[in-house]
Amino acid sequence: MTRDVVGQDRSVERSWALRAEACDLIPRGTSTNSKAPTPGLEHVEPCFIARGKGCRVWDVDGNEYIDYRNALGPVTLGYAYPAVVEAVREQLDQGSVYGYPHPLEVEVARMLTEVIPCCDMVRFLKTGGEAMAAGIKVARAHTGRDVVVRCGYHGWLQNTGEAGVPACFDDCLPSFAWGDVGGLESLLDQHEGRVAAVSVAGSYPHLTPEDAFLGECRRLADAHDVLLIFDEIVTGFRIRMGGVQEYYGVTPDLAVFSKGMANGMPISVLAGAEGVMRTLERTTVSSTFAGDALALAGAKATIATYRERDVVGHLWRMGRRLVDGVNAIFRGADIPGRFQGCPTCPQLMFETGEAERDQRMRVALLGGLFRRGVSIYNVSYVNFSHQLEDIDETLNRWDDAVKAGLER
Ligand SMILES: Cc1ncc(COP(=O)(O)O)c(C=O)c1O
Repeated sequence: MTRDVVGQDRSVERSWALRAEACDLIPRGTSTNSKAPTPGLEHVEPCFIARGKGCRVWDVDGNEYIDYRNALGPVTLGYAYPAVVEAVREQLDQGSVYGYPHPLEVEVARMLTEVIPCCDMVRFLKTGGEAMAAGIKVARAHTGRDVVVRCGYHGWLQNTGEAGVPACFDDCLPSFAWGDVGGLESLLDQHEGRVAAVSVAGSYPHLTPEDAFLGECRRLADAHDVLLIFDEIVTGFRIRMGGVQEYYGVTPDLAVFSKGMANGMPISVLAGAEGVMRTLERTTVSSTFAGDALALAGAKATIATYRERDVVGHLWRMGRRLVDGVNAIFRGADIPGRFQGCPTCPQLMFETGEAERDQRMRVALLGGLFRRGVSIYNVSYVNFSHQLEDIDETLNRWDDAVKAGLER
């Protein structure tokens, strides 16, 4: 048991007992790999969260945290945000799925055409990876070609080069790095005549308004007569409501959105130009729970809140204060660490020049913050319920964690 800076007794023993049980029942102890605890933080990190409200969560031992994990991105308004809770609860009383679509499917589709630049038509699904798989299938069916030249993570269904994935898939999904226009161009040349699409996932560390990369992707896709897909799973409803395509003014042919669009209700969407989306009338993308009314009710309430309140502006303001404050603390303590990238979802970087030392510092910082009631991850997220006081309280605790030392 330790006592934190705000005088709270902290033990995470219930979390770790449950973790032991989970590891006997669930490979890796969790169904989401990124939710497994960090090696080196045994009996420090909370493994199970019991509830959340606004920008705070409580673990199963009763410890409170100012939270920047936000469910790995989906919680943009705040945990248990009243307007979303009410909408979902009201829908729950009417049932969640039926043998025909619910009118909300049409209503939310209409809303999305109004907020996503590339969107004439949509298809709803449940996860980001599933929506991305649908986008790739549509691109292949539309063009009659197999190769998708990709940049960034598109979900586990597109992972290649690992156990369980035939090696021949590698050839259909070559990848290039964010910003590597030359690399993209040479892949397009190399696979000329076989490429269905270029797909790009927003890379948060590099998002600056001056970045011309996505415009270059559009230019090269057009020059090679292939489709352009944006994976807006992280960037949608976070950098702008309409994602990077709104921020940079570059319109793709297809895009996928998921995290953030329903404040944590499970939903994803494939959106795109009518001429491409109508390909779904001659190939199969279909799922029983795709149009469930609970997630759609959550999406409707979330999108309405974004339109009524300046949610995106708030995320940027809170994010900037957090990023500037954290970077000033690191600079003041002469620590080679920083928050980098888009302030609404900054990435934590350590650059000592030695990967093992970077990792030791990261683990020490995460541990110091957990002990002081702050929960962050490699990418941290602010939500609409974080207020200035929450950010400033976070910065005080951060300063304290850094002063306690990151070298061990
Ligand atoms: C950019 C990006 N694309 C796709 C995915 C996959 O989404 P999901 O985990 O909902 O399948 C993620 C998940 O983190 C992501 O960050």
